[in-house]
Amino acid sequence: MPHTVRGRARAQCVAVGTALPERRLTNAELERMVETSDDWIVSRTGIRERRIAPPDQGLSHLAIPAARRCLDHAGVQPAEIDGIIVATITGDYVMPSTANLVQHGIGAANAWGFDLLNACNGFVAALSAATAYIESGHARRILVIGGDIMSSVVDYRDRNTCILFGDGCGAVLVEAGSPDGHGVLGFEMHSDGGGGGDLIIPSSGSAMVASAAVLERGDQFVKQNGIVVFQQAIRRMAEVCDSLLTTLGLSGADVDLLVPHQANRRIIEPTAKRLGLSADKVVINIDRMANTTGATIPLALADALADGRLKSGSRVLLAAFGGGLTWGACYLTWGRT
Ligand code: UT7
Repeated sequence: MPHTVRGRARAQCVAVGTALPERRLTNAELERMVETSDDWIVSRTGIRERRIAPPDQGLSHLAIPAARRCLDHAGVQPAEIDGIIVATITGDYVMPSTANLVQHGIGAANAWGFDLLNACNGFVAALSAATAYIESGHARRILVIGGDIMSSVVDYRDRNTCILFGDGCGAVLVEAGSPDGHGVLGFEMHSDGGGGGDLIIPSSGSAMVASAAVLERGDQFVKQNGIVVFQQAIRRMAEVCDSLLTTLGLSGADVDLLVPHQANRRIIEPTAKRLGLSADKVVINIDRMANTTGATIPLALADALADGRLKSGSRVLLAAFGGGLTWGACYLTWGRT
């Protein structure tokens, strides 16, 4: 359902911090691991390389430094944070939550936290939750973190999936600001659980517990019906952007920057085209990052800040689609007022 902001405070996105593993896995290396080619990967997805974390490092190894950098940029102390929401499908553990590991790791003594499972649409969902807490007066500062260690759930023998994903993490500080200042102006979220089987990690919860048979079948790894997900993503990303802008009485002309989930360059470009946006108004970093699931949007926001395209007051449209199936969009003006 669409939602427009009418609360007593506006949720402002004021800073970003990121963390990436050092190791780069290039298409040339993948050519030596599975039957694929740099040409195929670049032409079908836009990906040239991805970052890969060491196998013994959970998401908190990235989320803690990303959170610290975000707070440094914002000039905010850890003790001033009320809440931490981590959007991820590859947290360190199911219990405790990665949000709790971050809370302890950064010394956010006054914060509660929880993890949010919404796959590639996780960051938008976490931002919508943080917005609701802030608008309702239940929190003043929330760290919204999106991150995934996708290499922990990818089968590097499966060419259909292993070329697509990477690891990374980004944190955005969301603060209560004046109701007529910068901040989140609206969002729209959707689900279609009927498509759940099209992008799934079969043995990742109570439905199929780990066993020797699971490991033999590789059911601990991500499985995707690529073409079905691709077609849905193209349709739904464009639909949700159109619908949210219409609800707000706006159009593509009111978007300074589209910051989309990075699953495939061939999904991002039609979305931008439908909105009538030129290439300079679309953030694409899939060539260097691949699909980092919960991290794509905060990593793209950080890139846009670094290259000067994202500034205080920029009118930003976030949009994502992913496993669930789930999709959503958020329209905001950037920065603190
Ligand atoms: O972030 C969550 C949401 N995820 C997405 O939005 C991803 C959506 N899906 C996609 O991005 C695309 O469907 C893929 C990139 C996964 C695949 O691209 P495609 O153009 O849809 O290819 P396809 O699945 O139709 O496969 C075409 C051919 C197949 O061969 P046959 O059956 O036609 O002989 C595949 O086996 O390409 C083959 N193929 C590959 N060939 C070389 C699949 N993966 C590879 C590969 N290298 N890595």
